[in-house]
Amino acid sequence: MPDFSAYAPAKVILFGEHAVVYGQPALAAPVLQMRARAHVSAGLSLPPGTVRIEAPVLNLSASLADLPEQDPLGAAIRLTFAHLNVTQPPACTIYITSNIPMAAGLGSGAAASVAMIRALSAFLGKPLSDDDVCALTFEVEKLHHGTPSGVDNTVIAYAKPVYFEKSLPGDAPAGGLPVQMEMLGVAVPFTLVIGDTGIASSTKTVVGAVRTAWQSRPRQYEEIFAQIGTLVRAARVMIENGTPHALGTLMNTNHILLQQLDVSCPELDNLVEAALNGGALGAKLSGGGRGGNMIALVPPSGNAEHDQQSAAEIVNALRSAGAVKTLVTTIAPA
Ligand code: PMV
Repeated sequence: MPDFSAYAPAKVILFGEHAVVYGQPALAAPVLQMRARAHVSAGLSLPPGTVRIEAPVLNLSASLADLPEQDPLGAAIRLTFAHLNVTQPPACTIYITSNIPMAAGLGSGAAASVAMIRALSAFLGKPLSDDDVCALTFEVEKLHHGTPSGVDNTVIAYAKPVYFEKSLPGDAPAGGLPVQMEMLGVAVPFTLVIGDTGIASSTKTVVGAVRTAWQSRPRQYEEIFAQIGTLVRAARVMIENGTPHALGTLMNTNHILLQQLDVSCPELDNLVEAALNGGALGAKLSGGGRGGNMIALVPPSGNAEHDQQSAAEIVNALRSAGAVKTLVTTIAPA
């Protein structure tokens, strides 16, 4: 059996995190400079049926049989076997590497699952479609996140900018994925700087905290979710109409609304302010919040070289304000 490798990118949520869990839309885009890779090779020296997982980034070196049921990578492998009706897997080693920071709102867990499911299904001679990879990764995301919206697995499995809306219970199409997913037409590319607070934050914990707060103050939280939904729809129009400079104000408003949901933190607020002082048109936290990453919009000038210079100034501002990592990425048509 030949070896197989597959890759999956990181992602950023442009607009709509948290509110998306409650049925509002979100916009997200892949970040292609960072990725997870899975490599599957035949385990010629392994006992028959043994599946080894080697993931140095997770300090994981184990046999599938020894992994607890809740382990996300183990679950991804078992789900793939079950989906493909593989009851007696061939002995193999799955090697996973990734340069996506973990617990940082960049989709590291979903990317590892997507790469793994793709490589393993190809190795088994039954390569899965993006739709199937997305659906299986969603099942794994439930272990990472508890109640994920599905936006992470979607943007990462399709590796394209997306407009995403989760159906609320009862609205899901019979037999279909419980989402509305459309490719986001990026009419004019725009550049973002991603700044990392260096603070690890569990999305599951923050999503749980929002749920608790929503349960005690439903009207207040639902009002904020609805306001976020309105600005996500407006942002989509701007991206599709080629007026990305107008996104800055919406990013700032989205950040304020996320502060009101209590998912920001002083370090994120500090980086957002530094980016604005450094020339960004807008900035907001991205992902689960209370740590992890923020994004800042580089003023689009229509000249790529000029945009890179502006990006460098924002990078400097973020670094001086304590960002432990920065990355410049351009959101371009799929
Ligand atoms: O995985 P993260 O940290 O990028 O966050 C996912 C975005 C949330 O809206 C907070 C949760 C979800 O499932 O959509």
